[in-house]
Amino acid sequence: MLHDFTIDLRFSGIKKFDSKVWLSSPTMHGDEQRWVDEAIQTNWVSTVGENINEVEKQIAEYVGVKHAVALSAGTAALHLAIKLAGEKLYGQARPNVGTLQGHRVFCSDVTFDASINPVAYEDGEAVFIDTEADTWNMDPVALERAFEIYPETKFIVVAHLYGTPGKMAEIKDIADAHGALIVEDAAESLGAKYKLGDRWVETGSLGDYSCISFNGNKIITGSSGGMFLTDCKEDADKVRKWSTQSREVAPWYQHEEIGYNYRMSNIIAGCLRGQIPYLDEHIQQKKMIYERYREGLKDLPVSMNPFDEERSVSNFWMSCLLIDVDAMAPHVRGEMDELWTTEPGKSSPGEILAAIAAFGAEGRPIWKPMHMQPIYKTNAFITTEGNGRGKSNAYISGSGVDVGADIFRRGLCLPSDNKMTAEQQDRVIEIIHRCFQ
Ligand SMILES: Cc1ncc(COP(=O)(O)O)c(C=O)c1O
Repeated sequence: MLHDFTIDLRFSGIKKFDSKVWLSSPTMHGDEQRWVDEAIQTNWVSTVGENINEVEKQIAEYVGVKHAVALSAGTAALHLAIKLAGEKLYGQARPNVGTLQGHRVFCSDVTFDASINPVAYEDGEAVFIDTEADTWNMDPVALERAFEIYPETKFIVVAHLYGTPGKMAEIKDIADAHGALIVEDAAESLGAKYKLGDRWVETGSLGDYSCISFNGNKIITGSSGGMFLTDCKEDADKVRKWSTQSREVAPWYQHEEIGYNYRMSNIIAGCLRGQIPYLDEHIQQKKMIYERYREGLKDLPVSMNPFDEERSVSNFWMSCLLIDVDAMAPHVRGEMDELWTTEPGKSSPGEILAAIAAFGAEGRPIWKPMHMQPIYKTNAFITTEGNGRGKSNAYISGSGVDVGADIFRRGLCLPSDNKMTAEQQDRVIEIIHRCFQ
């Protein structure tokens, strides 16, 4: 049964939004047009041109890495980063075999599937590492457990969820202790900073190879696009070669390695070039949205997505909330659908998302953890207690920890669009209050 919020008396007096309030949509400024037009006027519309050179230079400088390779998507960047790590560790594979065949990779669990699908593209086996409650990212304690269980593993793929840096100092120390490589997925966190020792550095500079996304919902966008980042020229050159079909130096099309058509076009790069000057402004706007929610929701039994204020500065890409355990109204989820009910003083992600949608605002459930996804249900999942699979026992009460599943169950992403007005945001906050009545 669909709940009709328009006749639910708890919501009386609340007006529908005149125009949709988005989760996180592109924000154009006009400069994008100039560089796209210039590409068209000069006929440099393909995968070579000044816009590409400029965005690579500017992003590398911003993030503080030596080399950036502009690609068609963050997913493409992750694929080539993961393939490169696979080749470094295990050598060049035959053309019909992935570079990670027969090998495990320790992966973030609460993330978008594009972070870790390339492990499967390369025939590797993702082992999902549970999430810590302090930043909602990979738990270093669970990672250490994973190395105890699978000591031969040499590769970690770690993402920064919703623009909040994870516990990278601990994760890097663990990786160093085990001689493991790190691919850092900074797709959502461009502009977020992390204190490594006594040095502040950007996310995107914390992996052996790092990736960012310029997808339309990100903090800045080229309409699409992504980037591979590294300090190693040889590795950047290799990724650039792979991304343009792996051509050898011969006069004809000659191939000694599998190639891809993953390069960014000069048109996309034009759009991105127009966005880069606004990155810090977008971060400021997102920060104000986060703080307005935090203030506006502080009297409710909820908390915002947390970050480590001493060691990190988020880019606040996504504002999220987590409902207190005691304030959760009944809410059950199947694989494809869900059912919730109302209870005085309580609410659920299902109810809040349905309520704000009924008035014209877009939220989203927390990214469903990878270890709960049907496709990855048979992959290993490691928590702070060790093996996270099969933890319940019909004859013993209690079951194991699963922080990611808990955040998915109690959390949700709030409308976080930087064009949302204060009035619109206040109305979203009011709707959430009414859910708890
Ligand atoms: C964490 C994460 N990784 C990877 C990606 C993939 O980036 P793209 O959409 O540019 O391929 C995204 C977003 O789309 C993401 O949020």
